[in-house]
Amino acid sequence: MEVEVGIIGGTGVYDPDMLTEIEEKEISTPYGQARVILGSYRGKRLAFLPRHGTGHSVPPHLVNYRANIRALKELGVRSILATAAVGSLNREMKPGQFVLVDQFLDFTKNRPSTFFEGGQAGVVHIDMTEPYCPELRKILKEAAKELGLPVHDRGTYVCTEGPRFETPAEIEMFRRLGGDLVGMTNVPEVVLAREAEICYATVATVTNFAAGISSQLLTHREVLEMMAQSNQNLRRLLMSAVDQ
Ligand code: HPA
Repeated sequence: MEVEVGIIGGTGVYDPDMLTEIEEKEISTPYGQARVILGSYRGKRLAFLPRHGTGHSVPPHLVNYRANIRALKELGVRSILATAAVGSLNREMKPGQFVLVDQFLDFTKNRPSTFFEGGQAGVVHIDMTEPYCPELRKILKEAAKELGLPVHDRGTYVCTEGPRFETPAEIEMFRRLGGDLVGMTNVPEVVLAREAEICYATVATVTNFAAGISSQLLTHREVLEMMAQSNQNLRRLLMSAVDQ
């Protein structure tokens, strides 16, 4: 059976416990290996890919984004639902809430971010007017409505290089530039998906107010705890979108 949908699980989303007929696959790509878990859900074959590896062993700046997207493409995936833990710069987007990201600001520094490196691969300048797939965002919005889950249906994601969290001065700058959320992984993932002609959407889970907006120091543990709290609803939302 063809694999149509890919789920890229971010921080706190490591196992595809909602899938049956599970099969692990190591896929070789020109960019390296990607480990993907195939499974079935209500008659559909899905590919699940934990972005940070099993047990969160790969930091955001070292994720092999090209191998991951290429592997999903080789499986035949046409739509990717990605999850992301994010800090919030926008007081309306509160910890525990979901945001269907619609724009990004790229503050990454040192990541391979294209499949098109010239020479044989060619030179391509991809359009980014609507970086996140409007159809998938609509499906997610409707699924959330049906489930009674409050979601923000737009938000600008600032992608930092990490792995450190931000300074309050950086957060204030991002806020003034129009950022709503901050995370470390959506770029180049969303860009590569577009280059691979895969429809891509992110469900961001707000885990904390970002540095300086919250008066408390931020820890990875706090991020994991909030993801654990939101996990059931996040899974319900994803699987309901898959079922559309
Ligand atoms: N900053 C960057 N990445 C994050 C944050 C944050 O505050 N929270 C969760 N991921």
